[in-house]
Amino acid sequence: MIVATGKKEDLEQARAQHLADEQDVMVVMLSDRQLLIPGLVDSHIHAPQYPNCGLGYDKPLLDWLQAYTYKLERKYRDLEYSKKVFNAVVRKTLNHGTTTACYFASMFEDASMILVDAVIEHGQRAFVGKINMTTLAPDDYKETPEETIKLTRKFIEAVRSKNCDLVEPIITPRFALSLEMDSMVELGHLVKEYDVNVQTHISENQDEVKEVNKKYGIQYANVYDEAGLLTPKTVLAHGIYLSDEELSLLRQRGSSVSHCPDSNTCLKSGMCDVRRLFNFGIKVGLGTDVSGGPSPSIVSAMRSALATSINLSFSQKNYKPLNYMDVFYLATLGGAEALSLDHKIGNFEVGKEFDALVVDMGAENCNTDMLLDCSPLELLQKFIYTGDDRNISNVFVAGKSVK
Ligand code: GUN
Ligand code: ZN
Repeated sequence: MIVATGKKEDLEQARAQHLADEQDVMVVMLSDRQLLIPGLVDSHIHAPQYPNCGLGYDKPLLDWLQAYTYKLERKYRDLEYSKKVFNAVVRKTLNHGTTTACYFASMFEDASMILVDAVIEHGQRAFVGKINMTTLAPDDYKETPEETIKLTRKFIEAVRSKNCDLVEPIITPRFALSLEMDSMVELGHLVKEYDVNVQTHISENQDEVKEVNKKYGIQYANVYDEAGLLTPKTVLAHGIYLSDEELSLLRQRGSSVSHCPDSNTCLKSGMCDVRRLFNFGIKVGLGTDVSGGPSPSIVSAMRSALATSINLSFSQKNYKPLNYMDVFYLATLGGAEALSLDHKIGNFEVGKEFDALVVDMGAENCNTDMLLDCSPLELLQKFIYTGDDRNISNVFVAGKSVK
């Protein structure tokens, strides 16, 4: 936990006090080219899709899912393969500074537990969800309505039995086209019974929205609401095409949006207007949406969020595009709020858990050499626009060094 922040003298004093109380205390000191920033939060990432990064972006969402995604995700029946990929994903995201990840794992419950084990072993903070899907998928990659509920219950109990403070299960209906209403209602019951977070997709692609409207005869957000899946602990990926009524409903329910600009560009889904979400008072975080997005880096997502917002500003009068501070917020405290973890992480308030990155802008062999004298805010700006994992020299999760 963070016990004090400030100048060297303040920290020395806090250290002396803690040592006098016989408590362990660590002080992180920085050189003038280093920054200490809150850990980055990836509020939407598909761990099993990592091998597909960069593939299939000639197809729109619904075709891409059938042609690429389900074919790959079927392979996680193989638990050795699951172990190999999931360990690589957790290691890779930690290297890129993701201290908290909200993962779509696999439809397979046992493979999803392997992701839980990888997260625990590497010391990441995470939500892990076993995917629910009973329809609109290949015959050998879907479950019956009975199985999907039974295995979700089993998964929640198995994750909780690990007694690891950093890892929580999350209910994960893939999207409204993957399930029938009855199954979603039953998942809604599990949400109440276990007081558990929820993640899914919403309004990512215009054809998808049309299909949902046709299937259910109501707006997309209302489908999830009818099932009891919109809660203050629900995060919805994308939300590009939500109507004003849907945004008001999300605001009322306290549900949040994970903005995934890399994915939205690659799959040509559209441009999400984060400013509009803010105006409706909705909590927003950033997601890589691997492998809809090609990069496991939230720094890349920050840059794409800036680009998307600037593109939106060209077609709207008096539009104020997001700046680097806004996207930094989305990547840290915004993400923590979106996942309902802001009482624990997101910034350096005393009492929060110490999830942090040491960013070294003087690191060798990276994009940021030839650095001139910079203020801390200029260093931050430079990191967001030009930095990458090579600049992240140390990563802490709950006070433990994990890189
Ligand atoms: N909608 C339903 N499933 C998926 C998925 O795996 N990725 C993305 N980007 N959208 C989805
Ligand atoms: Zn996704």
